[in-house]
Amino acid sequence: MDKFIDVHCHVLPSVDDGSKSMEQSLNMVKIAAEENIGAMILTPHYHPAKGSHNIENWRDTLEFLKKETCRVGIDMEFYLGTEIFYTQDVPDNILNGKVITMAGSDYVLVEFRTETEYSYIKSAVYDIISSGKTPIIAHIERYMCLLDKAERIEELRDKGAVIQVNASSIIGDMGFSVKRFLKKLLKKGFIDLIGTDAHSDNHRAPHMLDCFKYISKKFDEDYAYELMRYNALKLIANEEI
Ligand SMILES: [Fe+2]
Repeated sequence: MDKFIDVHCHVLPSVDDGSKSMEQSLNMVKIAAEENIGAMILTPHYHPAKGSHNIENWRDTLEFLKKETCRVGIDMEFYLGTEIFYTQDVPDNILNGKVITMAGSDYVLVEFRTETEYSYIKSAVYDIISSGKTPIIAHIERYMCLLDKAERIEELRDKGAVIQVNASSIIGDMGFSVKRFLKKLLKKGFIDLIGTDAHSDNHRAPHMLDCFKYISKKFDEDYAYELMRYNALKLIANEEI
């Protein structure tokens, strides 16, 4: 069975509200491996206004995580990315090279407040593209202005945005209406990437298998692989998704 790639997770220890320790990170990686995940793009929160990030520390911590994963005998590939909380400083920070992209590609993962207005998300997409990067909108199901508005998702994609949803939401963790909406988006082909957004080794652990089974059953296995592996491979290779 080909491995899945998790494009959104908070597995890097002690850098944000995700994993609290190396021990917890290793538990998360173990769970991911059992879930058929073979590679993870680690996406610690990046909040330009708070300045709480230390990118050199992230890189050192990643090297330590790689060594520890090897030591305990788990086969997992890691890449570094970040989940950027979008503010109007972000395009300048991108141009100044202050922002980590996804796995060294030209894609950036961005999130917004849940109550953000649609016009703000649209202009963010435009500004990120104008600064030379492709925005991946994190967990699209969280934004009130987009719920049950497939035409807005279509418009964002037409403008060049890539759409990410969480595996847990597809199988119903955010409730039935979100599940139904995401099924509609799947049917229309408006979802590009699926990640776990895992934050811990317990209630927000990195699960993808049930989502894979769901998409395979409702649609087909090739489609599930496209969203859980092949599009992520394109991302890592910096190819168009
Ligand atoms: Fe996240």
